[in-house]
Amino acid sequence: MPEADKEGARFQADRPQAAPSFFLKGSQQLDWGMKNRLARVFNPASGRTVMLAVDHGYFQGPTTGLERIDLSIVPLLPACDALFCTRGILRAVIPAECSKPMVLRASGGPSILKELSDEQIAMDMEDAIRLNAAGVGIQVFIGGEFETRSVHNMTKLVDAGLRYGIPVMGVTAVGTNMVRDAQYLRLACRIIAELGAQYVKTYYVSEGFETVTAACPVPIVMAGGKKLPERDALTMAYNAIQQGAAGVDMGRNIFQSDSPMAMIAAVHAIVHKKLTPTEGFEMYKSLIQRS
Ligand code: 5RP
Repeated sequence: MPEADKEGARFQADRPQAAPSFFLKGSQQLDWGMKNRLARVFNPASGRTVMLAVDHGYFQGPTTGLERIDLSIVPLLPACDALFCTRGILRAVIPAECSKPMVLRASGGPSILKELSDEQIAMDMEDAIRLNAAGVGIQVFIGGEFETRSVHNMTKLVDAGLRYGIPVMGVTAVGTNMVRDAQYLRLACRIIAELGAQYVKTYYVSEGFETVTAACPVPIVMAGGKKLPERDALTMAYNAIQQGAAGVDMGRNIFQSDSPMAMIAAVHAIVHKKLTPTEGFEMYKSLIQRS
């Protein structure tokens, strides 16, 4: 039966179906939609991401560098891997033609005038889906006045995210009067991961950051923090990556830079192309000269 033989060959019964693993730490057992969204935020080729954080207005209003997001941030979109913003800015300012993944700020409540840990969930997961979000982000105030509430906000958001396949980024929010060291960040990152966040955003510390990433079973992205001189910010991003971070979610150190476009390009090269801080800073300067 020559015809049956031909059909049999098409099934390639001698070749077992591949069982692909997943490139992100701690994420291999997630569902397809969740992994697909994570693979839009984190580049599968490098396993890393450069997220651009511009969500500050949710408690700070029009902070320096974000007065006109249409003018200062929209031109930077092609240079980031994902944008971290509020749904208000997304709907009002970000062009719907933009194909970059959007991670949406999902907590809020107090302004800079009040106790910051007094947050609530400030967005329905249904709206994140409606907006085609690649993820949502929420503050967790370990040691803060409203610690339990902020943890509970996150677990509720994680439950909703699991229902619909939307990853949650838990952010370690460090109160102004708290010590920001590796011991604290290990505690905060681990609690956030144990309670279900798919990845964690946290600050860099020069002593022991590798213990923070090692003790966290899911990917960590480094928060930028206050504006530093460009060379220092590039060094911090480099060190964080060397010490186990899966990327960065930087705001002020990019949009408050003298040249945000050159800065994000240099950060991108450090995160994805393994440039050293010196090479990154040279790249930053030469991009400014060329523009
Ligand atoms: C605070 C936040 C911010 O709103 C923001 O994303 C921080 O970015 P940066 O510190 O790099 O300016 O998450 O914890």
